[in-house]
Amino acid sequence: MPEKSSWFTALTAVFLSAALPAVAISGRLEPVPEVRAPAGNLQTPEKIELGKKLFFDRRLSGDGTMSCASCHMPDQGFSDGQDISLSYPTTKNWRNAPTLYNIAFTKALFHDGRSSSLEEQALFPIMSAFEMNQNLDYLEEEIREVPEYREAFQKVFNSEVNRQNIARALASFQRTIVSRNSPLDRNLKGEQSALSDEVKKGLEIFLGKGKCVGCHNGVNLSDDRFYALQVPENPEQANDPRINITRRFVAKVSTNYREYRTLKEDPGRFLVTGDRKDWKAFRTPTLREIGKTAPYMHNGIFNTLEEVVEFFNSGGGPGNSVLKPLGLNEQEKNRLVLFLKEALAGDDLNIVTPLIP
Ligand code: HEC
Ligand code: HEC
Repeated sequence: MPEKSSWFTALTAVFLSAALPAVAISGRLEPVPEVRAPAGNLQTPEKIELGKKLFFDRRLSGDGTMSCASCHMPDQGFSDGQDISLSYPTTKNWRNAPTLYNIAFTKALFHDGRSSSLEEQALFPIMSAFEMNQNLDYLEEEIREVPEYREAFQKVFNSEVNRQNIARALASFQRTIVSRNSPLDRNLKGEQSALSDEVKKGLEIFLGKGKCVGCHNGVNLSDDRFYALQVPENPEQANDPRINITRRFVAKVSTNYREYRTLKEDPGRFLVTGDRKDWKAFRTPTLREIGKTAPYMHNGIFNTLEEVVEFFNSGGGPGNSVLKPLGLNEQEKNRLVLFLKEALAGDDLNIVTPLIP
């Protein structure tokens, strides 16, 4: 059966092909729009500035050694360059730190989608035993002790320092971390020369033979859905006692998992839904600024985009029922990698570390 919209796509393709052929083939990708903040937390320059200070402030961690920026570093594409992310001293994280680029447009937060708003999300890493390990009552008092913060909270929220407004300010700042004006966006807006011929060929593979756009679509090149691709486990991680502790801890505090004591792998989305079909399913991540955020996947198993493309080309991990081998030749794989590296890198945000009061 033909897709409902196929007549429309065909017409648009004919109509656009004279002037903008690249736009016609990219119908399922969208340029980055303006950010829309939720009604309960509108953006103001002062709020963004306050959120930025808090994002870089080490007071947010229990022992004062880590800020959000320790694991989401501006010059590492807001990730941390580690396979398994950094963690609170003496503990070990269990997942790769995702980029925060375009997080404003992400509907399902975390690799398993367990949170859906930045306001809700922000307090998790602060409290997490293996991330910032801070007590929120204590943090409120710590922030309240700083006159500049007290004044800023009054001015921005017309309220005293509290955890809800700490979260709101952090969310506001994070909504400014946007990848803009990438060659792909310029191309989608009709600028013919924005992509070189080789990169355009990579885009064609992304949309066609590579089938990437089936999951990596829309503004963020993500459908915000979850798939069990059977990404390989890293054996070193499986045997690291501290990762085992973290894995069991997260499973223990998730309502859906009883047998956490014997857990040997990351159950992914299953921890959120308790549904067997979500076992080891992870969210389709954004591909914006992907050249800056190695290593890749929820466990950082792949160091390069070449390895990621090879994984998809060979049909994903053993036993998965989602992907099929693609049969891309060397030239096609190279072009796909080139597209990922070059077309999705936007303007530099030039974020300068703020002075912490
Ligand atoms: C110790 C390292 C570490 C610190 C510190 C940290 N994060 Fe993260 N962050 C991570 C990891 C790892 C994940 C992925 C966790 C998961 O999916 O289970 C993550 C996920 C996120 C996400 C969701 C991203 C996505 O793609 O869904 C946001 C938003 C975020 N962090 C913001 C923050 C903020 C704000 C702070 C400071 C309050 C912070 N993080 C501190 C490591 C860290
Ligand atoms: C069936 C849906 C699906 C298809 C098709 C698909 N991907 Fe993905 N992609 C995912 C999921 C899910 C992940 C995350 C897996 C994980 O974290 O374990 C991912 C991860 C990635 C990553 C790593 C991102 C990061 O930040 O770690 C890249 C790069 C990527 N895909 C590129 C591609 C390319 C190129 C293609 C086409 C050849 C493709 N994907 C096809 C769902 C898909």
